[in-house]
Amino acid sequence: MFWGSLHVLRDSNHFIVETQVNLSVPAKDRLVFALDVSGRKKAEEYVRLLGDTVGCFKVGLELFVKEGPDILKVVRDNSSASIFLDLKLHDIPATVNAALRAASTYEVRFITVHAGDGESILKTAAEVSETGIQVLAVTVLTSLSESELSRLGYRDGLSLNQLVLDRAGMAQKSGCAGVVCSGEEVADIKKSYGPNFKAVVPGIRPSWGAVKVDDQSRIVTPKDAISRGADLIVVGRPIRDTNDPAGAARKIIEEIESTAMSS
Ligand code: C5P
Repeated sequence: MFWGSLHVLRDSNHFIVETQVNLSVPAKDRLVFALDVSGRKKAEEYVRLLGDTVGCFKVGLELFVKEGPDILKVVRDNSSASIFLDLKLHDIPATVNAALRAASTYEVRFITVHAGDGESILKTAAEVSETGIQVLAVTVLTSLSESELSRLGYRDGLSLNQLVLDRAGMAQKSGCAGVVCSGEEVADIKKSYGPNFKAVVPGIRPSWGAVKVDDQSRIVTPKDAISRGADLIVVGRPIRDTNDPAGAARKIIEEIESTAMSS
């Protein structure tokens, strides 16, 4: 693995942070398309359309519950892209361990577990590492606001950013491959936990594409996410909801490429 030059940038709190841009992975393999569609027919259409363009398809809870594991076969049969199964598992460790083992038989590359209940669940990542599946920890859901933290029993004065960093550290110690985090946290995570701990960033909005009704608040452009150290970016609506999804995906890949090259 090799890395580009140090990037020095100013984050939203005006701290100077330094990150390194990962140059060893082709730009295409750093783009994850969120297959957020209503069912198998639509999913197959998008996989056929984008199967040669994007490096990975993310299958979420809704599609998986609706269509079952067969939906993963649809992805495999129609593309060479890898699969990210975003189920955000949250249960007792033995159950999570068994679910991860079951998912690994579907040739899934990435899967998510919740980091909120401490190390015992996260350690299941190390327990299944021999299967090849890479476990990503979801640190704090973006739906949680800072004001809710103390109501949930967290110590007074703890910031959301610190909670994300603490949980990312716990995930790394437990053997997770990386975390899902926002573009606002990615630079701190890479700085604290090193280049080999993956940071996967959703909430991506290219400057050229508008999403009509947007529920994402902590958004960044592909360029910003990559220059702050994101290993993979997850993009849904900015690709899905255009007239030319493959063209939009290619434009994002070009942006990833030019950001990595200029580092
Ligand atoms: O359409 P959009 O680009 O906003 O899609 C983002 C994808 O990333 C969705 O599948 C969403 O569930 C997922 N995601 C997110 N924020 C997180 C974790 C996952 O938006 N914190």
